Amino acid sequence: MAFDPRAMREQFPILQQSVHGKPLVYLDNGATTQKPNVVIEAIDNYYRNDNSNVHRGAHTLADRATINFENARQSVQRFINAKHSEEIIWTRGTTESINLVAQSFGGKFIGAGDEIIVSAMEHHANIVPWQMLCERTGATLKVIPVSDAGELDMDAFASLLNSKVKLVSVVHVSNALGTVNPVADIIQQAHAVGAKVLIDGAQSVAHFNVDVQALDADFYAFSAHKVFGPTGIGCVYGKKALLDDMPPVQGGGEMIEKVSFNGTTYQGLPFKFESGTPNIAGVIGFGAAVEFVMAQDRDAVQAYEDELLQYAHEKAEQCEGLRIIGTARKKAGVLSFLLDGAHPADVGMLLDQQGVAVRTGHHCAMPIMDQFQIPGTARASFSIYNTKADVDALFAAIEKVKMFL
Ligand code: ALA
Repeated sequence: MAFDPRAMREQFPILQQSVHGKPLVYLDNGATTQKPNVVIEAIDNYYRNDNSNVHRGAHTLADRATINFENARQSVQRFINAKHSEEIIWTRGTTESINLVAQSFGGKFIGAGDEIIVSAMEHHANIVPWQMLCERTGATLKVIPVSDAGELDMDAFASLLNSKVKLVSVVHVSNALGTVNPVADIIQQAHAVGAKVLIDGAQSVAHFNVDVQALDADFYAFSAHKVFGPTGIGCVYGKKALLDDMPPVQGGGEMIEKVSFNGTTYQGLPFKFESGTPNIAGVIGFGAAVEFVMAQDRDAVQAYEDELLQYAHEKAEQCEGLRIIGTARKKAGVLSFLLDGAHPADVGMLLDQQGVAVRTGHHCAMPIMDQFQIPGTARASFSIYNTKADVDALFAAIEKVKMFL
């Protein structure tokens, strides 16, 4: 049966509202996705019925909380097809995941004279931790250039690779441009020179299936809130052998095996990286969110989303005075644009007046904005519950913005 976005919408209570007297058209899914009833109910149920700390209580509520917490880890394991559940480390989100790898893997395995490669289209979260690591260690950060269409220059990438490169860290889907990068190819080429690869999956997992074993990714990071789960929780996947070799980055409760003033030993995976009481409700909501996604016919959803983005692109191409930023051949979820003579912030505000929510600004990707010599864009980002009617509403609102300005 064909995918039905209208039935999907019904599962998201927040979408059934008006803003400024107009039906809400939510096109800011790159910033955060809305939450379906099953996720809201899972969090509600935890606090109403099971609230307790995990892993250390000798009572029924603690047992229930622990079972649900660890079941969520298995859900995320299945979601990205990791080999072992202990390869899933809970973090606060993609940013903390990348920082964890930079501090732990980077601190141990990257030193003076080594090289790290990122791309020119990275989010600041996949630039700054590596700059900080380079400052600390004397390693050098190299950058894969991006074409005017917003595609990685793969020849330039090949020429950056050499035996000094210890890590390549690239985004799977660009939050600013929507480009889907050829990460399988990148991983294969990086491995050929002995480098490890981290993929920033913040914008990919909501749009298509990711199989970390098929990709052979060393690390894969993403946030729950961009895949229909709550904010403040995410994970980093790492290959077990790598994580086993990496030191913890935060000390405290949960992550230790034995503490004494003569020396402390640490737990094994995944707890070595999870000090302190975790975001239990967040983890349970994350688990419910990925179960919700896995229950969909993902190929049908992806085909639907591709068609919707294509429809938005066609409308954008016909819209006078609109310039699309990011015209890669393979894109997911994002239409970034500028209107002639208008600042993106004004465009965003006037769209909001008409009930249309988009994000404006540099999207935490200043280097790629600098390359395009623009201050930022207005960005419409689409999800599973958006419809062609939403796209029509966006372009009707853009026509009004053009009249106002
Ligand atoms: N990184 C998020 C975005 O692109 C917040 O909107």
